[in-house]
Amino acid sequence: MEGGARMIVTIFIACSIFLPLALAKLEPKGLHVGFYENSCPQAEQIVAEVVSEAYRKDPGVAAGFLRIFFHDCFVNGCDASILLDSIPSGEKVEKDSPANGKFLRGLEVIDTAKARLESECPGIVSCADTLSFATRDGSVLAGVPQYNMPGGRRDGLVSRAADVVSNVPFVNAPIQQIIELFVRKGLTQEEMVVLTGAHSIGVAHCSNFAYRVNKYNDTFQIDPKLNDVDSAKIKSACQRQVSNEEIEKTTLPFDTQTPFKMDGGFYTNLLKGTGLIESDQAMALDPRTRPIVERLAEDEGKWLNQFGRAMSRLAAVDVKTGSEGEIRKKCRSLNLENKGNTGIAQNLGKTNNDEDPGKLDKVEDSGKSDNDVDASTHVNSSDVVQSDKKFDSSRTFDLGIKLA
Ligand code: HEM
Ligand SMILES: *[C@@H]1O[C@H](CO)[C@@H](O)[C@H](O)[C@H]1NC(C)=O
Ligand SMILES: *[C@@H]1O[C@H](CO)[C@@H](O)[C@H](O)[C@H]1NC(C)=O
Repeated sequence: MEGGARMIVTIFIACSIFLPLALAKLEPKGLHVGFYENSCPQAEQIVAEVVSEAYRKDPGVAAGFLRIFFHDCFVNGCDASILLDSIPSGEKVEKDSPANGKFLRGLEVIDTAKARLESECPGIVSCADTLSFATRDGSVLAGVPQYNMPGGRRDGLVSRAADVVSNVPFVNAPIQQIIELFVRKGLTQEEMVVLTGAHSIGVAHCSNFAYRVNKYNDTFQIDPKLNDVDSAKIKSACQRQVSNEEIEKTTLPFDTQTPFKMDGGFYTNLLKGTGLIESDQAMALDPRTRPIVERLAEDEGKWLNQFGRAMSRLAAVDVKTGSEGEIRKKCRSLNLENKGNTGIAQNLGKTNNDEDPGKLDKVEDSGKSDNDVDASTHVNSSDVVQSDKKFDSSRTFDLGIKLA
């Protein structure tokens, strides 16, 4: 009895210390469902309308939003930094990173939604929330049961291509490293597998899987995880005797049966060994993640509900709230007041009071330079260390495959 009582006290103390910590992670400061209830009650409705209109024309936008959103949240938090076309310092922005590159789709839809929000509620709804709502709505149209998406995020003032590589997962990174990345963002191993089910829709470009059938590594010409049918499919898609530009644009769907439907087929396919990108297949083989894949494959309804919950957790990663950041007027550029000295000071982490304001025009014009963006997220596994210096995109676009 004594021991039992002591144990209860111990558990109580442990809970009172650790539970608030755990909850603090789950309930980030300032975010809540219905954030615009009073300030712009029609906000979520406006986004929903714009998204469903865009989805009717091209259901691929749902996948586009999910990927933009994931890469926004993992790189300096869900703060719409991925949407910026330029920053006052003139540095390359997140969009310019090879890991985002030309592969982002759905950006124009966010612009449209934001323009409508600005005309109805000027200066109220952040781009970060616009993207969050659009991503939720797209996923719901693709088959996820309706779920709540909290609002209250503010838009970031910084966007740097150099921050991307160490914060997004790569297709040939060891599972251990991908797990560590998700854990670093406050998400669990389970949530990692649940969220990656987003690959139930959308496409990948040859540059992210062609290496699996072409000099995979020193021992294997072809990734041994790949079956014959799929490797033949990849070869014929990515090794056509056409120009490199043509191959660069070539995509395959993650899920060939239902490429626009969020369904459990993604996990059952992984268990059959037909994962298109290496990291997905590796997830179904790794002893830490395989049981999760098996569970999710068995119960599609459970996965879909878990997906909604995990999305609102992803949507809270490193958010800016309160008076941090700003509410951008246009998602592609900082507000004028933050383009000046403050913006530059914050971007470079130093004060820069002597900055010639005339320089700003030039910065805007310089925009994004596309030339050295070749948009591959496959890197040499030995290089998948947390260093952007090592990431040389010219080296990774290894599609010069010569077939008979
Ligand atoms: C676990 C590690 C992950 C890796 C290594 C990874 C990697 C990739 C790669 C290489 C592509 C193809 C890009 C292209 O070639 O166009 C892709 C696409 C995509 N990813 Fe992931 N991803 C991961 C997790 C996630 C998560 C957590 C989400 C969202 C919650 C997500 C959502 C998507 C979507 C929807 C697409 C398709 C985009 C489109 O069709 O335009 N991914 N991912
Ligand atoms: C090649 O890949 C296989 C399977 O992933 C692995 O077991 C092997 O160690 C790799 N070989 C080299 C030389 O990296
Ligand atoms: C990594 O890239 C270098 C440089 O292109 C290449 O020589 C090496 O064989 C690659 N290693 C692997 C494991 O692909």
